[in-house]
Amino acid sequence: MMSDSLPLLLRAARGEAVERPPVWMMRQAGRYMKVYRDLRDRHPSFRERSENPDLSYEISMQPFEAFKPDGVILFSDILTPLPGMGINFDIVESKGPIIQDPIRELNQIKALKDLNPTQSLPFVGEVLSRLRESVGNQAAVLGFVGAPWTLAAYVVEGKSSKNYAVIKAMAYQEPQLLHQLLDHFASSIATYLKYQIDSGAQVVQMFDSWAGQLSPIDYDIFAAPYQKKVVDLVKETHPDTPMILYISGSAGVLERMGKTGVDIVSLDWTVDMAEGCSRLPKNVGVQGNVDPGLLFGSAKAIRERIVDVVKKAKGRRHILNLGHGILPGTPEDNAKVFFETGKNVNDLLID
Ligand code: CP3
Repeated sequence: MMSDSLPLLLRAARGEAVERPPVWMMRQAGRYMKVYRDLRDRHPSFRERSENPDLSYEISMQPFEAFKPDGVILFSDILTPLPGMGINFDIVESKGPIIQDPIRELNQIKALKDLNPTQSLPFVGEVLSRLRESVGNQAAVLGFVGAPWTLAAYVVEGKSSKNYAVIKAMAYQEPQLLHQLLDHFASSIATYLKYQIDSGAQVVQMFDSWAGQLSPIDYDIFAAPYQKKVVDLVKETHPDTPMILYISGSAGVLERMGKTGVDIVSLDWTVDMAEGCSRLPKNVGVQGNVDPGLLFGSAKAIRERIVDVVKKAKGRRHILNLGHGILPGTPEDNAKVFFETGKNVNDLLID
């Protein structure tokens, strides 16, 4: 492969014919890596690690240095833009995200600020530019955001939730309130994605992680229209940047995901890759699908499942990835097997 050609992941995501599926991992920077845990001991605040540009850059590069994946994702969080809209948060070890004043009333929604990324998120722009500069065409730089429904789930519940009872109470009692919040997030998230792309992100992923908690009828009311609004706004000015959509527990809404206008649908592991492909339009690509728990298995098991997924996605644009983020406690050697197998998959496909 010519070293001056565009990154493999970008070419694949755009639908060009490529030599093999590119490979990266959701949550590829993080707690399963010793270098990350050591850095976290020195900098215990998640907000500092993700908002200090030197630290965010260093952490983003850790998996690239260890495994040379085809994609380097910004080290940040889906909640990072919230303070720029007037919502304060923290991430507390073993508890997860905590929102200081959960949003439950109209006056709080009216008081939200429109996001101005240059002003409130300059560190994100700086990190993305530095990543582009460092990886050149060896990898694509990925940006990401949380989708409106998932962001709303955090800010209304105030923390990670099992049942989503508070936001569902809002959805079924005062839907117009929730719609105002979702609409505010959709505009601001689109602005944020454009800023990420202008700063160096070449492919972007929208995480609607908890949209799988909605019945399809409610997915059509509270999730899909706002995903689509983000996609439409971004595509208006940045039509050539591939967009990926991820939902956890998405098997019941796959066809709907394919209608949002995104270029690639990221599958979790509860659907067979071949069946997933058959439920999506031909021009929509696929990502993911490998059970993150597989990385607790043997090298042989990891290789077999990668080969299975690659075979089943043949004929589609395909990005090799896990069905959700890599889990804390995953042996680093197994992460290495995943990346290495992905990069040498052509050798294993000869029947
Ligand atoms: O993929 C990457 O390597 C980029 C980093 C990244 C993080 N969060 C870093 C992080 C990305 C893409 C995210 C997205 C994110 N954040 C999502 C969508 C993806 C998904 O998993 O569905 C969600 C739902 C969040 C919200 C959030 N932030 C959760 C649920 C947690 C975990 C809480 C916990 O302690 O387990 C976080 C914290 C967080 N974000 C961590 C990391 C590495 C772990 C905390 C730490 O390292 O100290």
